[in-house]
Amino acid sequence: MISNERALRTDLLTLDRSRSEPLYRQIVQRLRDAIEQGLLRPGARVASARSLASELGVARSTVELAYGQLAGEGYLLARGQAGTVISPRLPPRAPRRAARGSTPGPLTLAPVGPPPPFQLGIPALDAFPRKLWARLATRRVRATTIADMNYGDPAGYAPLREAIATYLRVSRGVACSPAQVVVTAGHRASLALVSRALLAPHDGAWVEEPGYPPTREVLQGAGLRVVSVPVDTQGLRVADGLRRAAGAKLAVVTPSHQSPLGYSMSMARRLELLAWAQDAKAWIVEDDYDGEYRYAGHPLPALKSLDAQDRVLYAGTFSKVLHPGLALAYLVVPEPLVERCTRAAGVASNGCPQLAQAIVCDFLQEGHFARHIKKMRLLYARRRAMLAAELQKAFGEAVQVELRGGGMHLIARFGGLGSDTALSRRAQGAGLHCRALSERYAGKPALEGLLMGFTNIASQAEVRQLVGRLRNALVVG
Ligand SMILES: Cc1ncc(COP(=O)(O)O)c(C=O)c1O
Repeated sequence: MISNERALRTDLLTLDRSRSEPLYRQIVQRLRDAIEQGLLRPGARVASARSLASELGVARSTVELAYGQLAGEGYLLARGQAGTVISPRLPPRAPRRAARGSTPGPLTLAPVGPPPPFQLGIPALDAFPRKLWARLATRRVRATTIADMNYGDPAGYAPLREAIATYLRVSRGVACSPAQVVVTAGHRASLALVSRALLAPHDGAWVEEPGYPPTREVLQGAGLRVVSVPVDTQGLRVADGLRRAAGAKLAVVTPSHQSPLGYSMSMARRLELLAWAQDAKAWIVEDDYDGEYRYAGHPLPALKSLDAQDRVLYAGTFSKVLHPGLALAYLVVPEPLVERCTRAAGVASNGCPQLAQAIVCDFLQEGHFARHIKKMRLLYARRRAMLAAELQKAFGEAVQVELRGGGMHLIARFGGLGSDTALSRRAQGAGLHCRALSERYAGKPALEGLLMGFTNIASQAEVRQLVGRLRNALVVG
């Protein structure tokens, strides 16, 4: 709240101490209501946790907890030294229901606006070649023809499908024709398409435990019977899947870099999984969301490259290599499924915006994509090493940093400082978007730790400042 909203502030935040509802929740609810009603303007600075706490007569940690939750829901944005502001780009009323429903969706509701520190899964937005992008976009806009303004192919812009097929053949070992590529509006849209085209309500679907919550949510939303299958250092434990639901019709896996543990699926497990799919006449969705990012050795070939029986649908996204604001992804479907899947794409929507697809197509065809990936691999390896070293320096023996072969986040285990959910709450209170590994389990968590994105940490000075803040939040706060 800014100073001329002082009266409003006191009014809004008169807390009712006779209620059983915790004080921090009362603060969250009132601020959320005020933001949604437009009483607090997007971009406006809110009082520091310290000053609001003293005004309300509560502990600073109570206000920090409330701010942390609101930041997680996308209402507030921590801007380091510049303080905390009402998010400038609030999704109109969207978070309200999700935030209050029985299944809060902090992981599916990614914060809008600039990524907060340690936010997971966002590429280095500062390193995106915006000038080049603007040049390609301008050229495409200027060249718009009458045909470009008509409906496009719901399965995707043909030259982009061709460019994706070429890229996958060369870089990911996936041999496919352009006709097998369907362009979608993101991972969720790809999964929804698979569910609609290939599965029936109540079919069983294996998902990884721990896993990526939106995967589970989309499949549940499609009426499938979702079955959690544990993951170990070799990836999905296929034998457990067989014990729990051998007759399932779908498995969604992240073989290159398991989300969130980071292990690559072993060859033995890959073959076991393919054999199960063949026997059960089930489909496998290979979610290769960040397979491009490996820091040791070469990117691993995709599971799809072993798929002699046409059971694997390969799902890629431009969110990690370009940026998530594009909202473009793709699905490679086996040849015999092309007609079913392209028809389902046409039933679902008019397809993705032609202009964005055309720009991405030029980006790929003119070699910028491959160059950008190569650059980002080096940059991320540097940023990751910087964060790991700083954590080690700041926390010493109290932290164990886990680095895998690839990915866009690391896992930090802090001994003796509390549960990972408590730590993540404290970090979020300080405006740091670390997530708890245990939130990634649908059932009882087997492992704990903080998941920390490193891709957007721009400098040594920034990492020092952020880790200092984290230390204050976890150890002092
Ligand atoms: C495991 C996993 N799969 C897929 C995606 C990509 O999703 P989208 O295409 O919706 O950005 C992400 C993004 O964070 C992810 O973490």
